[in-house]
Amino acid sequence: MLFDVQPKDDKSNLFGRKEELEKLLRAFRYGPPLILLLGMRRVGKTSLLKVALKECRQPFIYLDLRSLAEEGFSKAVFYRLLSDELSRVHSSWAKLHSFLKKVRGVEVAGLRVELDWRRGGAMVSSLFREVDEWLGSERRNMVVAFDEAQLLRGMRGGKGRMDFRKLLAFAYDNLRRVKFVLTGSEVGLLMDFIGAEDPSSPLYGRYREEILLQKFDRETSLEFLRQGFREHGVNPKSDVLEKAVDTLDGVVGWLTYYGYLAVSEKKLDGNMLEKVVNEAKRITENELSKLFQRSRYYKLVLRAVGMGFSGWAEIKRAVEAWAGMPLSNAQLTRVLHSLQKLSIVEKQGEKYVLTDPLVAKAVGL
Ligand SMILES: Nc1ncnc2c1ncn2[C@@H]1O[C@H](COP(=O)(O)OP(=O)(O)O)[C@@H](O)[C@H]1O
Ligand SMILES: [Mg+2]
Repeated sequence: MLFDVQPKDDKSNLFGRKEELEKLLRAFRYGPPLILLLGMRRVGKTSLLKVALKECRQPFIYLDLRSLAEEGFSKAVFYRLLSDELSRVHSSWAKLHSFLKKVRGVEVAGLRVELDWRRGGAMVSSLFREVDEWLGSERRNMVVAFDEAQLLRGMRGGKGRMDFRKLLAFAYDNLRRVKFVLTGSEVGLLMDFIGAEDPSSPLYGRYREEILLQKFDRETSLEFLRQGFREHGVNPKSDVLEKAVDTLDGVVGWLTYYGYLAVSEKKLDGNMLEKVVNEAKRITENELSKLFQRSRYYKLVLRAVGMGFSGWAEIKRAVEAWAGMPLSNAQLTRVLHSLQKLSIVEKQGEKYVLTDPLVAKAVGL
């Protein structure tokens, strides 16, 4: 069902994305050890990734790093997530057992694999070295997916923490059959974390494959809604669907949510769209709230951009007028920069635009 709000994990429920899926599957097989799947929130990264993991028919590890963020960025939590995934893989690949047993700090009891996170416990690099050996014996590759990998930044440095960039660099140099896939909604932050352009990063200059997911175009968005409603025996008028796409743009997550609410409440009038917008606005406000605590200029800049002030000088004038005081060039540059790194604002030529129309609503427009 297209309007299922969970990330899709079966190809039959994935609308479009044919080329991207092929590209990702090809990268799993032939690509470099580091693959990046990028795109704004709700554009469908997790769905594409999960479908690809299922389609590739190889063993895989999938870690949703939001749970790491929720439970605090500790090595203990990371090891537990990894243990859960290894246990799952181990339960369907019997021969993995003898390789895992060789790794210090790894316990295998029945179907359960447990990594000791304490000092002197399991080293992730040794673990993956053995996993790589096992993969060689099976003549298979394995994908290790870190979903929302910009969150790994929270794990750097300090006691009980780890530097994932070192692990990835180790994989480059030593592993043949393990591919890491990192997704990121905050594209600039993820790129900073990897530090591909930063000579001090262990990943500096290492080739990586990038797949960027774009919003659906208008026709694809309309077709997505038509097909989704058809699955429920509903055939809405074109103008209703067009209005929805005008409002929600080609952000598949919002379109899915709209379809889901419309079919579950069996309503398709204008109020329905309004209801979805209100709910989506609330979600977006919540996501932006942390940013707004940093400085009030974030909200004002988003407001200006949302209103269509797209040039640098125009944005500056608008923000200064609302704030009632001057904003330094450096400050505005910094704010626009972070908004771009978070994939909330995008630069098209010399123009700044919002990636998601709901952000405009969330700042009161
Ligand atoms: N290609 C697609 N076809 C159908 N539904 C999709 C597709 N991509 C995403 N969705 C739906 O959109 C929502 C957001 O998708 P998700 O994969 O979680 O995005 P992201 O990981 O980029 O934030 C989910 O409800 C998901 O079911
Ligand atoms: Mg996701």
